[in-house]
Amino acid sequence: MPSMNQMLSPETLPARLYSTPEVYEAERRNIFGKSWLLVAHESQMAKQGAYVATAAAGYPIIAVRGENGAIRAFHNVCRHRAGPLADDGMGKCEGQLVCRYHGWRYALDGRLASARDFGPAAGFDPRDFSLLPLKCESWRGFIFVNMNESAEPLARTIAPLIAKTAHINFEALRFERQTTHDIACNWKTYVENYLEGYHIPLVHPFLNSAVYASKYEVDLSAPIVFHHAPPRDGSPVGGLWAWAWPCLGLNVYADGVLMERMWPLSATHTRLDYLYFFPDGIERAVMERNISASEITTDEDKRICESVQRNLNAGIYSTGRLSPKHEMGVRWFQKEVKRALNI
Ligand code: FES
Ligand SMILES: [Fe+2]
Repeated sequence: MPSMNQMLSPETLPARLYSTPEVYEAERRNIFGKSWLLVAHESQMAKQGAYVATAAAGYPIIAVRGENGAIRAFHNVCRHRAGPLADDGMGKCEGQLVCRYHGWRYALDGRLASARDFGPAAGFDPRDFSLLPLKCESWRGFIFVNMNESAEPLARTIAPLIAKTAHINFEALRFERQTTHDIACNWKTYVENYLEGYHIPLVHPFLNSAVYASKYEVDLSAPIVFHHAPPRDGSPVGGLWAWAWPCLGLNVYADGVLMERMWPLSATHTRLDYLYFFPDGIERAVMERNISASEITTDEDKRICESVQRNLNAGIYSTGRLSPKHEMGVRWFQKEVKRALNI
């Protein structure tokens, strides 16, 4: 039987896949339209009517807590003339979601409750105009959605992640804050950077001083990629780093958890959403220290990814070779992209 190394192409994806609008459109439909995507954490929507809105690769999504604590997700698109039910971010409505455009009102289960001052309309049946629902499942407080009605259950998809994190007390975590970073690169440029530690000695001086980068290992349990880097003595960095297809990083530190979402905005722009979680009672200074350390690493990654993207756009480079020692995760990711795009 061929080894994993032999089955995966050592050649990188062609540069044109990182800047072409048609490729991006195909990725939206075939990757983001069919994958489980993290939208929120339950602690962001504790009360009935609380919601979180975001946009995944241009798909507007809203998750809302309804009666009996149920959390549902919908496309954040009104059935009248496509207005938004909420702006991106967290909020709370009073029992109904009200479209920002002309005020149609929706019950928290998505049914159209009233079409404001609509006038007589023969054949208009509100039951035909419910919000468009998404599959919505929760894993230990983290809420994921999937636009594909026939997607396999979340628990089956992320089974390797569930198994490796059983010992982590996610239930003690509370959402602290979200930060965002706009990065002028294709989403795959950033994901691939996340999937290898090969660049650490060159790009991340602090991180390099905190872990043994020469012992950095990437372990593929598809569709999850785990990273291991032994911390140097006394380093606060450590824990578990994982990544889930197609665009979620999960960094578990000694004092908290960072969920890192790599949302594409266009063929050449990406927005990173960092969702920080800490257990109750942790000192604010410890939280701020964790957050600042991760923002430094991100600035370093942003700079290198934007430079790489400029070079991919320049029309000089076509394809390169991946290291069999360090870039196994990148190889697997690129294989999945090709499979999704049918190329
Ligand atoms: S678009 Fe929503 S009420 Fe008109
Ligand atoms: Fe990095």
